[in-house]
Amino acid sequence: VFLGKMNSLGIAARAQYFVSVTSVEALQEALEWASEKSVEALILGGGSNLVFAGDYRGLVIRMAIARRCWEHVEGGEATLVLGAGENWHEVVMYAASAGYRGIENLALIPGTVGAAPVQNIGAYGAELRDTLLEVSALDRHTGKVIALTNSLCHFSYRDSVFKHEPGRYVITTVRLRLSRSRPFQLDYRDLAEYFDGQDARSLTPLDVANGVMAVRRRKLPDPAQLPNAGSFFKNPVIPLDTWRSLQQSYPDIAGHPGDDNAKVAAAWLIDQCGWKGYRNGKVGVHNRQALVLVNHSNGNGQDVLSLAERIRKDVEARFGIALEMEPGVVGSQASCQPLPL
Ligand code: EPU
Repeated sequence: VFLGKMNSLGIAARAQYFVSVTSVEALQEALEWASEKSVEALILGGGSNLVFAGDYRGLVIRMAIARRCWEHVEGGEATLVLGAGENWHEVVMYAASAGYRGIENLALIPGTVGAAPVQNIGAYGAELRDTLLEVSALDRHTGKVIALTNSLCHFSYRDSVFKHEPGRYVITTVRLRLSRSRPFQLDYRDLAEYFDGQDARSLTPLDVANGVMAVRRRKLPDPAQLPNAGSFFKNPVIPLDTWRSLQQSYPDIAGHPGDDNAKVAAAWLIDQCGWKGYRNGKVGVHNRQALVLVNHSNGNGQDVLSLAERIRKDVEARFGIALEMEPGVVGSQASCQPLPL
């Protein structure tokens, strides 16, 4: 099965076996089938945070569990229950249209609901962990569906238990606790500029979501028009004294110093090394956001990964900071040969 339309980098990889699942039972069956056949299984959401280094030798299971319902609606609060296969952005607009607040800053983030907790998606000063109540997941060690509360998910910046134990849990349902009255988070510079002069009390969650969309569209390429996987690297967290000495040499360095350490803007580091707008024919670096690698025309996983490696080396040589890739790498170059499909 051709996966080119199922990954936002548009990499022309193929899967040896493929199934789309719309229920937990179908998911369990698919996993059992893979284990009987002794083939690897890969869970695919929206494919917006992964790089196919080559074809996938094994079973690709596309999560398509649909569900949207409300629970415990009381006192201006409500729990939104979501199937893992729901499209994240559509859910944001759905909740915002219903007047509920909490995820409006996360508008236009590509991908599915089930993928969102894995990297604790975040943007414009908000993170999924701020509203996530509980996740239901199939534990592949036991074959049972379990509930993981927010604290059991061990969320931190772009991180969760689902990254620590890759492949163990398959998220099936996500529960979010939303509110009609919680204050909007409008401090992030781009957003503050967008809403400058407006009284936050007169804004609806839909206004904020629309503002976030406008801000994102200015800088971030739409994967439907220019294939990409969003931020390609995490913003590195460095010790405060390293941050201070970098600031001496580069007074305009971008980042967020905290009490114990500082988060440096990886986009700034990459930009300083002159990569913004770089293009080598097939792949390149976006010309408005240096943290986003783009696939201009039929680049494969190796093209993307070797560009990423060149950038990583350059940043390390110049600043002594090791960038860490954000998307996962799946498939292998060795399996790029035609497969018996
Ligand atoms: N900057 C540059 N050059 C650039 C772009 C940015 O120097 O080409 C500097 C600017 O000084 C800017 C700073 O870097 O102020 C930070 O840039 P930006 O506000 O665009 O945010 P970011 O740190 O690069 C993070 C997330 C994004 C999220 C934005 C907004 C990570 C890895 N990325 O990017 O997430 O949308 O903040 O909150 O934390 C994604 O995960 O795919 C994603 C787009």
